[in-house]
Amino acid sequence: MAILYADDPADAAAWAAAIRGLEPGVDLRFWPDSGPAGEIDFAIVGGKAPGDLRGFGNLRAIQSTWAGVNHLLADTNLPFDRPLARMVDQGLTVSMTEYVVLHVLDSAREGSRLRAAQRAGQWLDLDPVAPASITVAILGLGTLGADTATRLASLGFAVRGWSRSRKEIAGVESFAGRDGIRECLTGAQILICLLPLTDDTRGILNAATFAPLARGAVLIHAARGAHLTEADLLAALQSGRLSRAVLDVFATEPLPPDHPFWRHPQVTVTPHVAAITRPGTGAADIVENYRRAMAGERLINQVDRTKGY
Ligand code: NDP
Ligand code: OXD
Repeated sequence: MAILYADDPADAAAWAAAIRGLEPGVDLRFWPDSGPAGEIDFAIVGGKAPGDLRGFGNLRAIQSTWAGVNHLLADTNLPFDRPLARMVDQGLTVSMTEYVVLHVLDSAREGSRLRAAQRAGQWLDLDPVAPASITVAILGLGTLGADTATRLASLGFAVRGWSRSRKEIAGVESFAGRDGIRECLTGAQILICLLPLTDDTRGILNAATFAPLARGAVLIHAARGAHLTEADLLAALQSGRLSRAVLDVFATEPLPPDHPFWRHPQVTVTPHVAAITRPGTGAADIVENYRRAMAGERLINQVDRTKGY
């Protein structure tokens, strides 16, 4: 009975310490030194499978250290008939909320205008705008979207959220389904994307989605690069439909050096660092899922392969 760690080697020591701290006797192996394939019951993967994991015939379940699993669902190196759990981690949730709140506040307090004024040596006497007069629309009200929405609502922003099913979140107006998205977007000054990447959401950040927003709206996108139709974003920035975009995720990562986003004056690029799972908080669910896998129980945060998240 053994767990195979097949995530980023740079993080192996931290994960091993956190897992062994909770389960001291665990037999933890590290890709590619798995030992006999038949001894592996459980695999931990992250940004991608490091190679072919289909030969582990006794594998009972796969645990992702990432919240988003679109890449793992599409990975033909993983056995598609084993349960897959995605990561829900308090450390990751908090850091995503910090990332979004940072950029919402920067936008609300006109940080880019103030920085430009400083560079020009100009004393720009801007009055702060009341958060209640700023409508924020969040696409995706799951683990990350709901926490972000709650925090923004507590800061006084007018918060709306869109998800497949309607939610009850204090201070947040909830919209659902294909018909709800337009209502959620209409007149919003800040658009945040925290959706999983699925067949339904691929390319969703496009001209039609930007059209109902308030003119000069800001996009904060920290979900997956393939949600964004890049040409539509560049056109929307050019036309003034959007005034700024903060992008943490890209169709190609790392973002190629000649990509127009790098030097675009209205685009802030961050290198997929909005939030990461912290072994210290993430290990508990992994250990519990190992136990569940061995007992033949349903995993915590088991991915619904038909929904794609
Ligand atoms: P969840 O699965 O908890 O939430 C997903 C939300 O999206 C749910 O509210 C779901 O609705 C909604 N949703 C899914 N499909 C649709 C659809 N077709 N129409 C409307 N709503 C839809 O995911 P998380 O909040 O944990 O994570 C979201 C994403 O954030 C991840 O998939 C990943 O891509 C990204 N991420 C990025 C990171 C970064 O560092 N940049 C770090 C971590 C995650 P319902 O609730 O009704 O099911
Ligand atoms: C994740 C990510 O999904 O880092 O966890 O993007």
